[in-house]
Amino acid sequence: MSWHATILTLFPEMFPGPLGVSLAGRALREGIWRCEALDIRSFATDRHRTVDDTPFGGGAGMVMRPDVADAAISAAMPDGDARPLVYLTPRGRLLDQAMVRDFAAGPGVVLFCGRYEGLDQRVIEARGMREVSLGDYVLSGGEVAALALLDACVRLLPGVMGASESAVEESHSAGLLEYPHYTRPAEWQGRAVPPVLLSGHHAEVARWRRTQSEAATRERRPDLWNRMQVAGAQAPA
Ligand code: ADE
Repeated sequence: MSWHATILTLFPEMFPGPLGVSLAGRALREGIWRCEALDIRSFATDRHRTVDDTPFGGGAGMVMRPDVADAAISAAMPDGDARPLVYLTPRGRLLDQAMVRDFAAGPGVVLFCGRYEGLDQRVIEARGMREVSLGDYVLSGGEVAALALLDACVRLLPGVMGASESAVEESHSAGLLEYPHYTRPAEWQGRAVPPVLLSGHHAEVARWRRTQSEAATRERRPDLWNRMQVAGAQAPA
């Protein structure tokens, strides 16, 4: 059975979009995964096909109606569908590689893409939706976040990355940012490649890369660095 992604969106034409080319596109054509986008608007019941309304309590913007969202979810997920139902929102838990690994290891995902100010809270609770954010910035809707989540999952599916050096490297450097990369020419615009990388000393190369990874993580991502220190301190001997 293919890994199955269903996207609920007001813009189904955005899928598979960029995931129809390159690595993910090839995997799609090979049937490693399936991508199905459903138009939320087709579940509206009134003459004007209304999907949103003004917020109770007042304020700017529009809110997606729970009845329309719920009908769309019912159509996407027949009874017994074991896939996680994810709502992409800047209010969600930050997406990380652990979450991606989890999603990729299961049967697939159902992704609900919001537009406007958001989705009525009651349907989020009634459906046990998992709220996930791509980062601390506001996109104009969940679609671009959904594409990013899918890209991250699909590259982990068996058969997508091939004999994946990248996957091995990922687990090596778990929790740290990657070290910088260099290729030919050895000198370019007066800039030399760090000599250790030309030395042929595998152990020294590994040590240099580790130091670079640690320095980059400490400087750029103190949040990751501190989490690693805490995890390391608590790990059993
Ligand atoms: N929708 C709008 N902004 C978003 C974000 N940062 N992450 C996920 N979904 C979003």
